Amino acid sequence: MKVAIDGPAGAGKSTIAKAVASALGYIYIDTGAMYRAVGLNALRNGVDIKAQPQLAAKLTQSVELDIVPGADGQRIFLGGEDVTDIIRTQDVSMAASDIAVIKEVREKLVSIQRQLAAGKNVVMDGRDIGTHVLPDAQCKIFLTASVAERARRRYTELTAKGEACVLDEICADIEKRDKNDSERRESPLRRADDAVVLDTTELTIDEAVAEAKRIISEAALS
Ligand code: DC
Repeated sequence: MKVAIDGPAGAGKSTIAKAVASALGYIYIDTGAMYRAVGLNALRNGVDIKAQPQLAAKLTQSVELDIVPGADGQRIFLGGEDVTDIIRTQDVSMAASDIAVIKEVREKLVSIQRQLAAGKNVVMDGRDIGTHVLPDAQCKIFLTASVAERARRRYTELTAKGEACVLDEICADIEKRDKNDSERRESPLRRADDAVVLDTTELTIDEAVAEAKRIISEAALS
């Protein structure tokens, strides 16, 4: 069984996907973390991703990425270093969104994602899972929420981690990322025709997880 969960930044994809995977005993694969890790790699190498896309693509071809599924979610290693936690900053979010428009980068990461999912029960989240990475997934969920609510969630998450941030700036960043992710030429963010829409604006995490589980059970029965 393959479950594809797509949607914009801050809709609750990773929280819900992780909870659902753990409840079902499935492997959770966070594809956004892969774009974040290669974005971080480009930043660390001083590459201006927007101005030097070919250099960013070249650097990504030789990157050493290890994705290790575990009981408390997925851990990601860049050249042997565990970068799971440090890829969550605003700078890396933007770098991930910028590097994700590059065709060669997407091809490389999509191929890793398909290999990770082959022959297993997985819950995979991202932007193009239902439309491109796993078009045959038995269950597809498109998670969404209002921009204001998504910004509020990100603000709470970052402040809880002690990162200084301004709500208006987060809101503007989210709008910029939404635009970047949905208007790019390569596999833009869009709902697969056969995906079920789940709007989490008014839902608590528990309610959203329960609803996602219900959608998955229905898909498993059909
Ligand atoms: O889900 P996230 O916020 O961790 O994703 C970071 C960025 O990576 C996001 O702005 C777009 C990109 N991304 C993508 O293009 N395709 C995916 N399957 C996952 C993420």
